[in-house]
Amino acid sequence: MRRAVCPGSFDPITNGHLDIIARASKLYDVVHVAVMINQSKKGLFTVEERIELIREVTADFGNVEVESFHGLLVDFCKQRDIPAIVKGLRAVSDFDYELQMAQMNNGLTGVETLFVPTNPTYSFLSSSLVKEVAPRGGDVSHQVPPTGQPPLTPRQARK
Ligand code: PNS
Repeated sequence: MRRAVCPGSFDPITNGHLDIIARASKLYDVVHVAVMINQSKKGLFTVEERIELIREVTADFGNVEVESFHGLLVDFCKQRDIPAIVKGLRAVSDFDYELQMAQMNNGLTGVETLFVPTNPTYSFLSSSLVKEVAPRGGDVSHQVPPTGQPPLTPRQARK
């Protein structure tokens, strides 16, 4: 069984993330989507909401498992016997930090990182920009995957 992981904050998942997950799901038997729990950073969506969204929009792929994790990504991989991390690269500016993480992770446990060039349609996309634009009334409907449910209300707006 060939396994890979697509890790991230996914706050929220964008069409760019979804494209990478979809492509990974064609290359591997099982793709684990690992949603990082970051105690020190309060996200726009809770981790549970992010997981729910990702499960919904990846359900048709048939081989995607979505979980949260805290601690090191390499430990998540080790516990599940995952030898490969799949990451999207939007631009050269992504490469510097991604290379450092890939080298660190490989040095820690030998896990490999595979970079997939982002579809140019999504090369400008990021969760941060979506979070900047959406609460101010900007239309992000082409940047985040459509869901069958009414859009989730970010936690700030629920108070
Ligand atoms: O979507 P993001 O925030 O760019 O994802 C970053 C993520 C979650 C992939 C990265 O921060 C990560 O792997 N964090 C887990 C902690 C860890 O293993 N750090 C060492 C990496 S060298």
